[in-house]
Amino acid sequence: MAAARLPVPMSRGLRAAVYGVGALLWASGIAWLVLHLRFEPRNEFGALPHPWEAILMRAHGLVGVAAVFLLGWLGAGHVLECWRRSRNRPSGWTLLGCAALLVLTGYALYYTTGPFHAGAGWVHEWLGAAVIIAALAHWLRIRRIGEPRSRAPRESGSPPVQPRGRHMEP
Ligand code: HEM
Ligand code: HEM
Repeated sequence: MAAARLPVPMSRGLRAAVYGVGALLWASGIAWLVLHLRFEPRNEFGALPHPWEAILMRAHGLVGVAAVFLLGWLGAGHVLECWRRSRNRPSGWTLLGCAALLVLTGYALYYTTGPFHAGAGWVHEWLGAAVIIAALAHWLRIRRIGEPRSRAPRESGSPPVQPRGRHMEP
């Protein structure tokens, strides 16, 4: 019987890109929401967009493109590698499902009008704010998995287990 394959740890560069792009995307979206909901100036005709809203959305749209690129990368590597593993599955699939919905609703924000646009905006805003919970759950599970794995004694004949985030020198 073939030995179970340990997932290949992400390279440092990819991990940093995933955390960095994820953090920028979330922070730019939340900053826009806070300005939009709390700090819009008003005049006699009603609320006006806060001057930073447009800049934040330009940054958010740009980071969103990088996020879609990274999702494709993770889909071809990380997700396929972890596909059959029971560990981390609920948080991983929840995170992936949320990301797919965010991409779809982000697209809809550009190309729909009327009630579809309003619905896509509502789902995108609140799912975007809540996705941090799935991301933190995935991260916490990884931390818990990482500890015993790096301390576990080696079974005879099994390959050496690398501490999280370190890679064997050639
Ligand atoms: C892969 C993930 C994501 C993609 C591809 C994405 C993409 C987009 C795009 C294309 C827009 C429209 C930009 C514009 O109108 O100029 C947008 C708007 C927005 N995004 Fe995201 N986004 C993602 C994740 C997030 C997250 C995590 C948040 C966190 C709160 C978020 C919050 C927002 C908000 C508040 C808006 C403005 C919504 C509106 O105009 O009603 N997004 N996003
Ligand atoms: C948007 C989707 C996803 C993102 C952004 C993501 C992100 C990450 C990150 C950054 C790590 C830490 C990697 C490391 O330190 O080497 C990780 C680990 C892990 N993820 Fe995901 N993940 C996603 C989807 C999934 C899915 C769908 C699954 C399961 C089917 C999964 C299962 C795992 C497992 C098992 C680990 C620990 C790997 C190990 O033990 O080395 N992930 N994930």
